[in-house]
Amino acid sequence: MRPPKIPANMMAVQVVRRADVARDAVSFFLAIPGTQRSPGAYQPGQFVTLALPTASDVLYRSYSLCSTGAANELWEITIKRVQHGRVSNFLLDQVPVGAILYSSTPRGTFTLPAPLRTDVPLIFVAAGSGITPIQGMLRAIAKLPANRRPQVQLHYASRIPEEILYREELRRIDPTGTWLKQYHYLSSQGQTLAAATVLGLVGANVRRAHWYICGPDALRTELTNALTGAGVAAPFVHAEVFATQARTTGIVDSGRGPGYQMFIQENQAALTIGAGEAVLPALERQGYQPDFSCRVGTCGDCKLRLLAGRVEQNAAVALTPAEKSGGMILSCVAHPLGDITLLSGGRATARGRAVSPVAAISRVTARNLVRAACVTAVGTLVFGVWNLTDHRPASWDASAAAAPTTTTTGGGSTATPTDTATPDPNGGGNPAPTATATQTPIPQPTATTRPSH
Ligand code: FES
Repeated sequence: MRPPKIPANMMAVQVVRRADVARDAVSFFLAIPGTQRSPGAYQPGQFVTLALPTASDVLYRSYSLCSTGAANELWEITIKRVQHGRVSNFLLDQVPVGAILYSSTPRGTFTLPAPLRTDVPLIFVAAGSGITPIQGMLRAIAKLPANRRPQVQLHYASRIPEEILYREELRRIDPTGTWLKQYHYLSSQGQTLAAATVLGLVGANVRRAHWYICGPDALRTELTNALTGAGVAAPFVHAEVFATQARTTGIVDSGRGPGYQMFIQENQAALTIGAGEAVLPALERQGYQPDFSCRVGTCGDCKLRLLAGRVEQNAAVALTPAEKSGGMILSCVAHPLGDITLLSGGRATARGRAVSPVAAISRVTARNLVRAACVTAVGTLVFGVWNLTDHRPASWDASAAAAPTTTTTGGGSTATPTDTATPDPNGGGNPAPTATATQTPIPQPTATTRPSH
């Protein structure tokens, strides 16, 4: 089995520090390998996707960046151990300082409003690890001069006090509550983070505030419904949802058993897709590089247009109903229910182009055309030479036919052979055709347009 490959759109980052931020939760600080420099600036609240190669496949997980996003700050991601979680346990137990990881560039639009206005409050609502993107935004606001900070509320649900991420830091961030009011909800103590409670605490600012919700889908649904009911305009509600799928794989996960065919209209390729395999890994397995980030249906980066056929994509959180009815699919979570046709499969590598049967047919046809042209050319040449030659049998005048012609050059004479054929540098046979003469151009797929978050 070939070892799984890290996709070309991932970059190497190095773990340069680890820090415990709660029980079973560790922050990893990431830098350009061999340095203590940030891999790059980003907007607080954005996330990266890590690619973790195993012996048989590549696992992908998205993690919010929880530092401020400044170009001089290391990237920080916080991993909370998930019971039986393959990746979280691996990262916490087996990734030491110095380890190299592979990461996407930062993505996502779960970021602060621009410009940040002091008269527009911000309401952050988080559960569990949902605090991680919000922590980056809180840190960024804390760095601002006091006269440029908006008023902020944080509503944060945890199970027990020991599981409150960044607990000490939150305690210190604004001890007098001048700009940040915090409300913690501990389920172990019977406290529930309910939409009605939050709206009641926000009071008159409900419709003026920007709302940021990060947690399980149930929290998002309850709050967004409540905010809609309260008349909050959609652009003021920002939500990010935890993906609950155990894993999505790429590159080598070819699905199990017989599957379906997947046609790509823009380059006329016919690909295979295994039973149970999602569209994205099937494309990657066959040499395509569609865009992606989270690989669990929440970011929307992997949108592709479905032209024919049907898919099941229950986890496609990032698609609007209009996008779904318009034929968009999230390739990372879309599973065909039969043969499908896509407008594009994303960028195709050389391997991807090679798997196109039309391209292959074109090449075979081109080769055959070249051969046929060569045979015809040689035949014509032979026929022409035959016609230009005196074909009398040697016995008619054997001595004349065999005798070399003699050309007088000055005082001497040089014998030249009568055979005028050009020597074959290949030692005989047909002359080699030039590759460019009859080759059929192969259509190149264009990059998929990156959709919005
Ligand atoms: Fe994020 Fe598919 S990669 S939705």
